[in-house]
Amino acid sequence: MAVFADADAVVRTLRPDVPVTCIYPEKLRENAERFLSVFPGQVLYAVKSNPDPRVMRYLYGAGIRHFDVASAEEVTTTRSLFPKARLSFMHPVKSRSAIATAYRLGVRDYALDSASELLKIVEETGSARDLNLFVRVALPKGNAAYDLSGKFGAHEEDAVTLLQAARRVAARVGLCFHVGSQCMEPAAYATAIERVRALVDRAGVVVDILDVGGGFPVSYPGLEPPAFGLYMDAIQNAAQHLFPAIELWCEPGRALAGSGGSVIVKVELRRGHTLYINDGTYGSLFDAGSFGWRYPVRAIRPDSALAGALEPFSFFGPTCDTVDYMKGPFMLPADIAEGDWIEIGQLGAYGAAMRTRFNGFYSDETVAIVPSRAYDDTPTGGDAISITDHLPARQIARSGRK
Ligand SMILES: Cc1ncc(COP(=O)(O)O)c(C=O)c1O
Repeated sequence: MAVFADADAVVRTLRPDVPVTCIYPEKLRENAERFLSVFPGQVLYAVKSNPDPRVMRYLYGAGIRHFDVASAEEVTTTRSLFPKARLSFMHPVKSRSAIATAYRLGVRDYALDSASELLKIVEETGSARDLNLFVRVALPKGNAAYDLSGKFGAHEEDAVTLLQAARRVAARVGLCFHVGSQCMEPAAYATAIERVRALVDRAGVVVDILDVGGGFPVSYPGLEPPAFGLYMDAIQNAAQHLFPAIELWCEPGRALAGSGGSVIVKVELRRGHTLYINDGTYGSLFDAGSFGWRYPVRAIRPDSALAGALEPFSFFGPTCDTVDYMKGPFMLPADIAEGDWIEIGQLGAYGAAMRTRFNGFYSDETVAIVPSRAYDDTPTGGDAISITDHLPARQIARSGRK
């Protein structure tokens, strides 16, 4: 993977005709270190948010050793990348073959939210005695940008029965929940912990692990979340008070990977305040298209300056489908035109991970951006530095290579 000092250098050097995914190793490291130093327990990286092996290696290099996996594919690729890491299969509905594969590859942690899933896990692991079983509890819809309350989670009575049943067969029993992705309310975690406390009391069983899931937010235009510390305080206070001796886990995806990536797109056509760009809803911008999500944007014109105040634009993606539309508004200089590029930020999570090949538009051109690195980006020769893909950012900065 080539390394550049910034997105402008990528454009000057490559003049890319396809979307270019940028990985920011230093951001990934900062995010991981922040979580690991503040969260009072185990930090699992939610692989679904960005399964790119380079991203995962940077996070591993920063100290992440525990991964939340959701499919057989995530189990096998994560296991092959990190043979000694701990993998936890936190998807509450798994295929039988995925359970069997995971168990064979050393996975012992499984989430469930129904009696039939519990039976599947027991059967496919040959009634193993070394299972750690997590009952996923349903939560009411909260103040999260992405509600995850509708699909998974056992409701009160079922959760109580499942806890008792899991206790009979598991080595360790856990509880897990998800407050919704991009959760804007730290108190949502405390409320969820109170809720599960009541269930544990009704079940009358000992619970060993409390997994507070993901949902930790990052900032987007128009969606500035409360400070990170408030989330940590809410969890720590509630857990200390209600589950004083429990082991705590969390499963961040967005908060670890989000700021660690961007995509550079090219403007193919301008029609008024709508730009036709070469990535879209079927590519890295699924959330922008499907949920009207806004991202930070910055125009790049390598040979001259852009002019004019920032104005609101919307995007059409490259496919022939009209839903390939991103309303925005994305604030860009008034004179942005065909042939300019735009860096779209905060796309390290649920960006590249969501790309499809629909209509023949697919690019996995990827570069690393390491701003701290002195760098000569002359277009002829030596303009991009090859590094070992998984070199942690600190080593890149120190390596002194040009
Ligand atoms: C079970 C589970 N854990 C963790 C995550 C990561 O959530 P986030 O990216 O909001 O932190 C998700 C996302 O859908 C999830 O379903």
